[in-house]
Amino acid sequence: MSHYQISKKLKIFNKSCYGLVDLKPNSIEALISDPPYGISYQNNYWDKDLPNKQIWKDCLRALKPGGFGAVFSSVRLMHRLMVDLEDSDFVIKDIMFWAQLNGMPKSRDLSLDIDKELGVQSNKVGTYKYVQGYKKNGAKSYKNRYAKDKLGPSSKLGMMYKGCGLGVKPAYEPIILIQKPIEKNISVAQNIIKYGTGALNIEQTRVPYDQGETKVGHNPHPNGRVAPNILRTEKFNDGFDKFFLIPKVRQYAEDFNVHPTLKPVKLMHHLVKLLTWENQAVLDPFMGSASTGISCLILKRFFYGYELDNDYYKIARKRINNIIQELSIPTLF
Ligand SMILES: C[S@@+](CC[C@H](N)C(=O)[O-])C[C@H]1O[C@@H](n2cnc3c(N)ncnc32)[C@H](O)[C@@H]1O
Repeated sequence: MSHYQISKKLKIFNKSCYGLVDLKPNSIEALISDPPYGISYQNNYWDKDLPNKQIWKDCLRALKPGGFGAVFSSVRLMHRLMVDLEDSDFVIKDIMFWAQLNGMPKSRDLSLDIDKELGVQSNKVGTYKYVQGYKKNGAKSYKNRYAKDKLGPSSKLGMMYKGCGLGVKPAYEPIILIQKPIEKNISVAQNIIKYGTGALNIEQTRVPYDQGETKVGHNPHPNGRVAPNILRTEKFNDGFDKFFLIPKVRQYAEDFNVHPTLKPVKLMHHLVKLLTWENQAVLDPFMGSASTGISCLILKRFFYGYELDNDYYKIARKRINNIIQELSIPTLF
């Protein structure tokens, strides 16, 4: 176990988050995290199960009353995660959708399986380049390309099922917006005065109007619309682009960063700005390569992060050190 600290503003730990023993109760303003989804994404060993719900109790204890949280999830298991969060006494406030066009449906060609079951040889219809998927420490494996036969069904039943699949194209990732209840028997204003928590930072996250767009509403705000619960990645050109646009990050945006579920810093900026004000503290118990932490450094928020895997922890440190050098951050706040 090791940890790394730049003064008291950023502290990251290379250990399991369970217990959050380093954090005092009621000391953190916001929780922003992308935990394991429990779907064995790309066979990653750490994604086999959802986190034990004990961690959400730990987070509740560390958060100040009224503190908000944004927790990424998957469409398949968000309901379980939401129950875990609710059972841990968080209030479910919303589900934001981070919409994107380049999600890949998980599927297989059942028509070929049918041929095989029936003992029929499928037809070769061409060749294609097969790229071996990501393995831990295996970014290089993307260079392993093989030529493979492209097959088509030959049985009657196989032909009937040609092109069928097991799922629809995933076009959004849910982000569950939660809140620790404000202190009992006081108002939201009193909670804000006492703890600095209880409200969302709508002013800093307004979405600017499109170029040339006439302002909307009777009394339009000069800085744009209130941020909606749909965050888009690609330009869809259907009118909805007014709301929000965040480009999806390349898997290996920086050559040393092989984290398979890297989140765009720009997306994290939006969440950090929405949930906190400058000099407030953000907790990410499942930080991976520290996209939340990078955003906090840039936006002058304090950050506490935990990462169990030593390789990812080293990547997080390297990213943080790069940003510190790039922006001379310790002198910034
Ligand atoms: C979905 S990834 C986060 C990726 C991150 N959003 C990024 O941009 O790099 C979840 C991370 O949680 C880590 N993890 C899993 N169990 C953990 C635990 N008990 N304590 C700390 N980290 C854990 C995994 O190693 C993985 O890196």
